[in-house]
Amino acid sequence: MKRKRVVILGSTGSIGVNTLKVIERYPEKFEVLGLTAYNNIKLLEKQVKRFSPKYIAVNEDGFKYFKKQGSIAQKNILNVFQDLEHLVALKEADIVVIAMRGSAALMPFLSAVTSGKTVATANKEALVIAGNIILKEAKKFNARVIPVDSEQSAIFQCLEGRTNNHVNKIHLTASGGTLLRVSKSRFDQITVKEILNHPRWKMGQKITVDSATLMNKGFEIIEAIKLFDLSVDQIHVVIHPEAIIHSMVEFDDGSVIAQLGVTDMRLPIQYALTYPQRMDTGCAPLKFAQLKKLTFEEPDFKKFPALSLSIHVAKEDGTLPSVLNAADEVAVDAYLNQEIALTQIYKITEKVVLKHKNKKNPDLNAILAADAWAREEVRKEIYN
Ligand SMILES: NC(=O)c1ccc[n+]([C@@H]2O[C@H](COP(=O)([O-])OP(=O)(O)OC[C@H]3O[C@@H](n4cnc5c(N)ncnc54)[C@H](OP(=O)(O)O)[C@@H]3O)[C@@H](O)[C@H]2O)c1
Repeated sequence: MKRKRVVILGSTGSIGVNTLKVIERYPEKFEVLGLTAYNNIKLLEKQVKRFSPKYIAVNEDGFKYFKKQGSIAQKNILNVFQDLEHLVALKEADIVVIAMRGSAALMPFLSAVTSGKTVATANKEALVIAGNIILKEAKKFNARVIPVDSEQSAIFQCLEGRTNNHVNKIHLTASGGTLLRVSKSRFDQITVKEILNHPRWKMGQKITVDSATLMNKGFEIIEAIKLFDLSVDQIHVVIHPEAIIHSMVEFDDGSVIAQLGVTDMRLPIQYALTYPQRMDTGCAPLKFAQLKKLTFEEPDFKKFPALSLSIHVAKEDGTLPSVLNAADEVAVDAYLNQEIALTQIYKITEKVVLKHKNKKNPDLNAILAADAWAREEVRKEIYN
């Protein structure tokens, strides 16, 4: 059988590296066609040596570096700022993995679906801000969008073969992140290093901070609404510190189907790449007797107001998700640069969200304008 040719946007990140581990396990099934990096040229170079992609996309320094180094034909060294839309639309590409972070993934995501590709997306930002447009285009161009985010993958797996008509609720699980057992009065005393030490998952810095504030769960509420055509009221967030159940679907008859697995992103990544086939992942199986118990609790909305804010944004929709996402992105970057305290992330984001004049049923231009407006507003809050 012909090998599937895969393009990975963001191959140097946590999801990108895990995607390459999956591909490495099945060389007879997959071939790496394109890899992209943003800053980490050294890691990209190692990946190029190992997987020999035909194309790469890099920044200007990366271009000079690879041009001199000579392992990739110069015409195939693309620009990460300008050429991702072209890269994902290449006729040779079968599967596009969106493993890059941030709303910068929006345009390449759209290009991939309008080119009819199979898109495995870990990136949630593009779905949060423009999920309606992306999924409409995917339908129109017969593209398949398969979620990689472990919670969305769980829902996708639980719904397999069914329409969402008989879904009563989604129980979206959250491990609770670094601050689950920390009192709110101590939040700003926790160091960035401690915040980045997630108890269950090893992920990129931005999503790890969002997991600590539960903003990540808020984004996932919006992501699930768009991906599975649900209403806000159908989503119930439940704290599940063991992070063994990755989410559950409750049907109209009261039956609940859950997806369980170890906390290893290779599982949902591989499922997205091989769907609908299941194959050995090399991940350790669950040992139930060792787990002993799985626990659940309601989230504390007072301690984690990002959840209520996201629910408000999800209900309003329009350009507000774009504002929420952009404001959080800039504020988290400022936090990681130690320019603001952790609790400021929420305060600033909330202020900008509440200031925004929401535009319903926005087109792409309105979404991008709202994104740019929010970034500027947050910068004014932080740096003026
Ligand atoms: N990590 C997880 O377990 C996980 C789980 C669920 C969902 N997700 C989602 O998956 C996405 C990636 O997460 P991650 O944890 O893998 O992030 P990460 O480790 O920070 O990696 C991000 C990747 O995107 C690249 N990148 C960053 N900014 C870019 C830009 N403006 N344009 C093009 N490329 C850019 C980075 O390149 P350089 O490294 O070369 O700078 C890197 O390859 C996020 O949307 C996240 O929410 C992640």
